[in-house]
Amino acid sequence: MIKAKPFVKWAGGKRQIIKELKKYVPSEFNCYHEPFIGGGALFFELSPKKAVINDSNSELMNVYKVMCDDEKYSKMCHLLNNYEVKNSEEFYYQLRNKDRNKEKFEKLNDYTRAARTIYLNKACFNGLYRVNSKGEFNVPYNKKTKVNTYDKENLLVVHMYLTMNDITIMNTDFEEALKCAKEGDFVYIDPPYDQINSSFTSYTEEGFNHDEQRRLAKVFKELDQRGVKVMLSNHNTPLIRELYKEYNFHIIEAKRNINANGKKRGKVEEVIITNY
Ligand SMILES: C[S@@+](CC[C@H](N)C(=O)[O-])C[C@H]1O[C@@H](n2cnc3c(N)ncnc32)[C@H](O)[C@@H]1O
Repeated sequence: MIKAKPFVKWAGGKRQIIKELKKYVPSEFNCYHEPFIGGGALFFELSPKKAVINDSNSELMNVYKVMCDDEKYSKMCHLLNNYEVKNSEEFYYQLRNKDRNKEKFEKLNDYTRAARTIYLNKACFNGLYRVNSKGEFNVPYNKKTKVNTYDKENLLVVHMYLTMNDITIMNTDFEEALKCAKEGDFVYIDPPYDQINSSFTSYTEEGFNHDEQRRLAKVFKELDQRGVKVMLSNHNTPLIRELYKEYNFHIIEAKRNINANGKKRGKVEEVIITNY
């Protein structure tokens, strides 16, 4: 069967370092867990038969849920075809600003919200997901005349993969999502990067600061003690070196794409940490 690929562009997406990551994936495990799924580059690459995927971003996880339902999936595709035709700066801001009225927004059905999320991801500047302090999506339009919201073949493969396998979709905090990981399972943790000088950190309403990195390191340790195989990727910063000093470090170099400031694009040292 053809392999599914990520259907959204996501900050911190792991497509560029997928080969490096795959080198360290254990050859055997029971259930796959990914508590910060984002675009799910490694998840789709491995396409496990049993998995628990999670992200605190509720609009994103709503898309994954809609993709698991035949009827909702086709209604969402229908809307996307329509949005591609309507695409313009005016249409973009009209759809984007639907979350300005919380009450009305919450009444939108799930497949309409999912189509909005995919369209905004493809028509916004640089594929960023950024919300303001009120939780309102605030990325500007990319000003391109044509938008391809989805690759028809790939979306169908994603839909089939998610419906034909045992995939649990959660929308909670990583600590909660990892409670069900058991001995013999494999967890891949890809949190927001540790930032020495804070730049792009606000994926959702809550930022991911140093205290969050420390809380995550505690969860890593608990998983290790339970006999779970854990792999984590992050920037190679002093805090990360300190927090995971008793584990195995594999240094890699990767080029980051999502960065609004062209000058900052370049090589950033990344690290893969494993407990095995
Ligand atoms: C680096 S991205 C993941 C990228 C992903 N691996 C990919 O290949 O596209 C980090 C993700 O963590 C999510 N996140 C931030 N704080 C979280 C939390 N406390 N619990 C769960 N997810 C969280 C963000 O919404 C974001 O999607």
